[in-house]
Amino acid sequence: MKMVRLFFLLVLSTTLLTVTTAGNNTFPPTTTSNDTDFIRTSCQTTLYPQICFTSLSGYSSAVQQNPGRLARVAIGVTLSKANHMAKYLSNISRDADYASSPRVAAALHDCHSVLGDAVDEIRDSLRQMRRLSGSGESLRFQLSNVQTWMSAALTNEDTCTDGFEDIPDDSGVKADVGGRTVKVKEVTSNALALVNSYANTVQTP
Ligand SMILES: *[C@@H]1O[C@H](CO)[C@@H](O)[C@H](O)[C@H]1NC(C)=O
Ligand SMILES: *[C@@H]1O[C@H](CO)[C@@H](O)[C@H](O)[C@H]1NC(C)=O
Ligand SMILES: *[C@@H]1O[C@H](CO)[C@@H](O)[C@H](O)[C@H]1NC(C)=O
Repeated sequence: MKMVRLFFLLVLSTTLLTVTTAGNNTFPPTTTSNDTDFIRTSCQTTLYPQICFTSLSGYSSAVQQNPGRLARVAIGVTLSKANHMAKYLSNISRDADYASSPRVAAALHDCHSVLGDAVDEIRDSLRQMRRLSGSGESLRFQLSNVQTWMSAALTNEDTCTDGFEDIPDDSGVKADVGGRTVKVKEVTSNALALVNSYANTVQTP
């Protein structure tokens, strides 16, 4: 019964949407529903498809069903999240409450350091994605560099969480940093999966 009502609502809202946009060929600007479907479908190959779709669907008109562009956009989103996390860590490292425990302060310092490495690796990946050239083996080689750097970034993000492992969470910093790191790891993992998918489409003779 619930499902039926939901379905009816869905049909109704789709109809309304169609009516309101009918006769307006400029809306949506360049995105077709196909562009969005492409991102949804591509995201099915990642470990976190929902997060993948939510974080990337806004770029559908720029991606235009191009797997290379999708991978590049995913890396760009990852860079922005990792950068933000690094800034956050640098902020809370200065916070007196967090520094009250020397072990927490040390773990935070280490996490900030490995996350800085991750940011560098993600930045290198983005730079490479912007400069991709050629085809076949040559293109595969360039993409294998990106795969290596994005994997290294993922490992560095893991190292951050590991550093807090045996520390009691009196201040809540472990849960806070842990939760934020998980989110960065999810987008990193997704971006790597999209690079892998793209690399698999490159034909080698
Ligand atoms: C078409 O729709 C867009 C978005 O709602 C709106 O900004 C634009 O003015 C509309 N154009 C016309 C010709 O109605
Ligand atoms: C969507 O894409 C598919 C495959 O690229 C194509 O066959 C189909 O005609 C497209 N549909 C629309 C509505 O653009
Ligand atoms: C870091 O701190 C500055 C100054 O307090 C603040 O403006 C900024 O939003 C903070 N950044 C993050 C990521 O927490």
